[in-house]
Amino acid sequence: MANTRRVKSFDDWKEYFREWQKDLGLEEVAESVGGLPPYEFHIGWGDLKSDEVEFGAHRGNRKWEKLVEVPDQRARDTLYELIRYQGDTEFASSEQQRHLLTVAPSQADLTSLIRVIREEGRHGWQMAYLLIDHYGREGAREAEKLLERRSTALSGSRSNRRLLHTFNEPIRDWIDLYYYAELVDRDGKFQLDMLSRCGFAPLARSTVYMLGEESYHLRFGHLGLKRIIQVGHVPMAIMQRYLNKWVSSALDLFGKDASSTATWAYEWGLKSRFNEHRCPPLDEGEREELNDFSRLAYYREVQGLMRQLNRFRKKGESELALPDFRFNRKVGKYASKCVGVDGKEVKAEEYKDYVKSHLPTEKDESFLKGLFESGEQWVAPMVAD
Ligand SMILES: [Fe+2]
Ligand SMILES: [Fe+2]
Repeated sequence: MANTRRVKSFDDWKEYFREWQKDLGLEEVAESVGGLPPYEFHIGWGDLKSDEVEFGAHRGNRKWEKLVEVPDQRARDTLYELIRYQGDTEFASSEQQRHLLTVAPSQADLTSLIRVIREEGRHGWQMAYLLIDHYGREGAREAEKLLERRSTALSGSRSNRRLLHTFNEPIRDWIDLYYYAELVDRDGKFQLDMLSRCGFAPLARSTVYMLGEESYHLRFGHLGLKRIIQVGHVPMAIMQRYLNKWVSSALDLFGKDASSTATWAYEWGLKSRFNEHRCPPLDEGEREELNDFSRLAYYREVQGLMRQLNRFRKKGESELALPDFRFNRKVGKYASKCVGVDGKEVKAEEYKDYVKSHLPTEKDESFLKGLFESGEQWVAPMVAD
C-alpha cells in the first residue's frame, strides 16, 4: 500500500483496513469456503473488574476514562506504546498465518483458522480505534502504521518489519501454527490479562473483551497438538524441536529482565502482574523483576499443558519436555548466554550449531512435507465442542 493517504478519522482508517485485508486476500478465502457466518468487525467492550485503579501509586482512585485524566505525561506515553505494540502483534499474526489457509488439513481447521485470523484483525481494529480516539493526529498516524509495517514472514523484507522478533518468524506449516496458537497466543493471553486491570478504563474494557476471544485461539492450538500426538505419525522428536522453537520465542515476548518500563507501567497503574488479584502485595525487591514474574508464571502454565499432551503419546514415544528457559533467548540477560535445552552450559563456539540442531531442521521439514502430501491422516479429526 502506498503511503499517500493521511487517516484523520476512524472511518478513514476502516478504508485503509479493507485495503490491508484485500492485500492479504483474507476475505476471498473466507468467501470461497462458503457457509461461514457473516463477520462484522466491531468494537467490543468488556466489564471493568473494578472502577478503581487496582495497583501502583494511584491505587484506590477512580479509573481514568479520558487520556487527560491520566496523571503524568510519561504515563500517557507508556500507554501509547502499550497500545501500539498490542496492535502491531495482532495484524502481524494474520500476516504470518494467511498462507496456511490454502493447506488446511480439514474444513473444520480451515473454519477455525479463519475465525482466529478475523478475531486478530478485530483486536488490531480495536487498538487502532483507541489510538485514533485518544491520541489525535499522532494516534491516527500510528494506526496507519499498524497496517503499513509487514511481518518479514510475509514480505521477506528486512527493512519493513513488525516490532517484535516473534512476529517476523515464518509459520511454515500447521504444526507451527498449532504451537503458535498454544504458545504465542498464550503469551497474548498473559499480556491481555495484565492490561485488563489497566487504570485507563478504555484499554481495560477492550482487553477484557479480547480475552474472551483469545481463549478460543488457545483451545484451537492445544487441541490441534493433542490431535497430532494422538495419531502418532509425527515423531515426538520433531514435535519437541517445534516446541523448542516457539517456547523460546514466546519467553522473549515478556520483555527484558529488570525492565524499568515494566516497573513504571506498574507504578502508574497501567500494566499489572499476571493474575494481579491473586498476587501478594509487591515488595520492593520484586519491583525490578515484573517481567520475570509473569514469564515464570507462563513457563509453569506451559509445563502443565505439556504434561497434559504427553498423556496422549503412543507407546514408546518420548515425552515433550520444556527446554530450559534460558535456551535460545534473544531478549534480556540470557540473550548472551549459551545454555542448552537441559540447562547445561554449551561452549560459545558450538552454540550456534547446538541451537540449530534443537530447532526444526531441514530434514524435519522435508519429512513433514512428504507426510502432508501423502494424503495420510496425520491429525485426528476435530471434535465439535
Ligand atoms: Fe489477538
Ligand atoms: Fe489470538
